[in-house]
Amino acid sequence: MESDLIREPEPEASLPRVAQAIVAPLTRAAIFLVVKIKPGTDNQDVIRSFCGDLSAILRAVEFRDIEAGLSCVMGFGSEAWDRLFGAPRPAHLHPFREIRAGARQAVATPGDLIFHIRAKRMDLCFELATQIMARVGDAVSSADEVHGFRYFDDRDLMGFVDGTENPRGNAAAEAALIGEEDAAFTGGSYVIVQKYLHDLDGWNRLSTEAQEKIIGRKKLSDIELDDSVKPTSAHNALTTIVEDGKEIKILRDNMPFGKASEGEFGTYFIGYSRSPRTIEKMLENMFIGNPPGNYDRILDFSRAVTGNLFFVPSATFLENVSEDTATTPVSASSGDASAQREATEHGARDGSLGIGSLKGDIPHE
Ligand code: HEM
Repeated sequence: MESDLIREPEPEASLPRVAQAIVAPLTRAAIFLVVKIKPGTDNQDVIRSFCGDLSAILRAVEFRDIEAGLSCVMGFGSEAWDRLFGAPRPAHLHPFREIRAGARQAVATPGDLIFHIRAKRMDLCFELATQIMARVGDAVSSADEVHGFRYFDDRDLMGFVDGTENPRGNAAAEAALIGEEDAAFTGGSYVIVQKYLHDLDGWNRLSTEAQEKIIGRKKLSDIELDDSVKPTSAHNALTTIVEDGKEIKILRDNMPFGKASEGEFGTYFIGYSRSPRTIEKMLENMFIGNPPGNYDRILDFSRAVTGNLFFVPSATFLENVSEDTATTPVSASSGDASAQREATEHGARDGSLGIGSLKGDIPHE
């Protein structure tokens, strides 16, 4: 006779890792908060203990208007990762790679942590940013804070609809989330951000036809230009990456921002990808050109004033970090790839996240 079997709980290793809210619907408001961690192990402890609490803080603010879709993605720069977590480290995490091509520069700027906060309402975004800073404010200093807004018809301040060719649904997750290629970090992502300032007077002196050839789409209807008329330097031509016959997509959530009285008009570029290489290739095409010299003319009217690369671990990872999470020094960051591989494989082999002490909680939603 069959007895009532009490099923053993699944070992932690087999629980799926839950991604942070990277694949979130477009929102009307966003705050991009980039901070530097102050020197000292005390400050590292503050950040580590905060990681596991972020989801509770988010839930508390979110619940004040559950319909407003508040979300927050937290990411870590390369040096910050080593300070906070050590080995294993995400396979492709490195500092943002600067590009200098004549007058065109993709600059690298300081930044250890990013908080990408989105909601239908700016007050919720602001409240969450305030609550985050109330917790970590003494341990960090501000590197950059941008408050973005959705502009008419999802247009950027140059007047073009921005976001049309973003992958949706499963394709978005496929583009942004790490899979088995880095088994210790599945559900994670890489994010590159750049703050661009536009010379709108110069841009608006161009004819609409000239602008359309730079972007590669019609301004009013947002329809893509036919290949017979689209220049190879068009923005959407240079940012189309094809490998082995397959287009490699990224997930963007750019936002306009500005200060009318100071003549500041900008686009905050934010791109998520399962490998930073895809976005880096797009940047090379834009700044250096493909072939070299055939660069993106958006850059004749736009200047990048910040540039950062962050790793976004899964929500499960964040939830399980604690103040006393042990860090193993990373020799891999100084170029020892085999040590890194070994560390990563170890994390993958034992199914742990490889971050030392785990609280053992069931991952949150
Ligand atoms: C000045 C900053 C930028 C502005 C104003 C801008 C604006 C636009 C616009 C209007 C489009 C066409 C509509 C769409 O499909 O979204 C577009 C497409 C795109 N942009 Fe940007 N962009 C900027 C920077 C970047 C950067 C830095 C990257 C990547 C490194 C990038 C990657 C892409 C990609 C992948 C597409 C879709 C191409 C396609 O599949 O057709 N953009 N952008």
